[in-house]
Amino acid sequence: MSERTQVAIIGAGPAGLLLGQLLHRHGIDAVILEARSREYVEARIRAGVLEQGTMEVLREAGVGERMDKEGLVHGGIYLCFDHTRHHIAMRELTDGRAVMIYGQTEVVKDLIVARLEEGLPLLFECQDVSVHGLNEDDPVVHYRYDGSERELRCDIVAGCDGFHGVCRPTIPEAELTVWSREYPYAWLGILADVAPSTDELIYAYSDRGFALHSMRSLTRSRLYVQVDPEDEIENWSDDRIWSELHQRLASDGWELNDGPVLEKGITPMRSFVAAPMRYRSLLLAGDAAHIVPPTGAKGLNLAVADVTVLADALVTRFTVGSDTGLEEYSDRCLTRVWRAQHFSWFMTTMLHLDRSDDDYGRQLQRSQLRYVTTSTAAARSLSENYVGLTLEQTARATVSR
Ligand code: FAD
Ligand code: PHB
Repeated sequence: MSERTQVAIIGAGPAGLLLGQLLHRHGIDAVILEARSREYVEARIRAGVLEQGTMEVLREAGVGERMDKEGLVHGGIYLCFDHTRHHIAMRELTDGRAVMIYGQTEVVKDLIVARLEEGLPLLFECQDVSVHGLNEDDPVVHYRYDGSERELRCDIVAGCDGFHGVCRPTIPEAELTVWSREYPYAWLGILADVAPSTDELIYAYSDRGFALHSMRSLTRSRLYVQVDPEDEIENWSDDRIWSELHQRLASDGWELNDGPVLEKGITPMRSFVAAPMRYRSLLLAGDAAHIVPPTGAKGLNLAVADVTVLADALVTRFTVGSDTGLEEYSDRCLTRVWRAQHFSWFMTTMLHLDRSDDDYGRQLQRSQLRYVTTSTAAARSLSENYVGLTLEQTARATVSR
């Protein structure tokens, strides 16, 4: 069976689904092909912090209603070290900008509902997806669906299929430059059925390793502890996890409430960039092109920023017939990507315990923590990165190069 569309979108994560939604609002046809089931995609617990710009894009895309009702707006974070908590007043430091606590699972559910309600094509459980015809400028995606072989002819392929997807490996190796860094630690994350013990997120540096107290709602907490990358979830009973969280998050005059653990898992930490983000008619977006360690809460937000730029470029292509936006796409995104790479590395190395590091390294970390919690200039720099640079700020940086 053969079909045709303007944009074939591979992957129904936040990048692919939002791109589909933005294109639809401009009358551009797309088909989204996803390898997993709808249930799996909707249940995959990942990010929880939306930047100011991400909230705005979701509202403009017509999928902000539930986020605005159920999301929690936070105007700051706490940094905790030496048993003392310090508040970073991000809203005051960034002219009123803030973040929204709203799970990636919820963003994905909202986007799926929006697409299916419009009767737009979104195919789950597609097998053996592969991209062909790029060198002939006649792109075609092959896949198997419901037991039959299919092909999707298109003008553009959007590779939104995450870090382990098939799109990036389709690009000839010689055409891509790759930068990456592995970290000597991982995160063990839990979702707990207990009200958060804090009004805003707590990032804690301790002699036992990093910990983070986040949340998903006023009744659900999301918490993380740093573990070794080789560690296995079987080694971590719920009691052991809570015991570490109590010790690492401890601060004078404050109590952590524990409760039933609903879900737990270990996530490795990696930084990765592949450039350029375009090869002929194939455009990469989100984790397919770059990943960051989660300490800066940037992964999902970068995916949203990429597809916002990509949607603009595709609208120009299909309405005006100009490829200028597509030609500039990679450079425009990478300016922002590298800022987020640096910020994520900065937050990660400031807050984690590298067991191969010496006491000199620990003193540097403490000095940096004291600096960002006592200097307004340093706190403002951290804040403007955390709440996210505006798309205009990124665009300006590109134009002035
Ligand atoms: P994904 O969300 O990865 O979506 C890609 C989609 O493509 C998936 O649905 C996948 O099933 C599909 N796909 C893959 N291969 C194929 C194929 N061959 N054919 C069709 N479909 C395919 N960020 C944070 O800010 N905070 C966090 O706490 C955090 N935790 C994370 C935990 C994990 C385990 C991971 C992997 C990432 C985490 N991130 C976190 C990062 C953040 O979730 C990602 O940056 C975000 O999901 C990127 O969205 P995306 O749409 O680009 O990619
Ligand atoms: C989360 O809530 O999952 C979360 C919050 C902040 C981060 C990373 C993850 O930096």
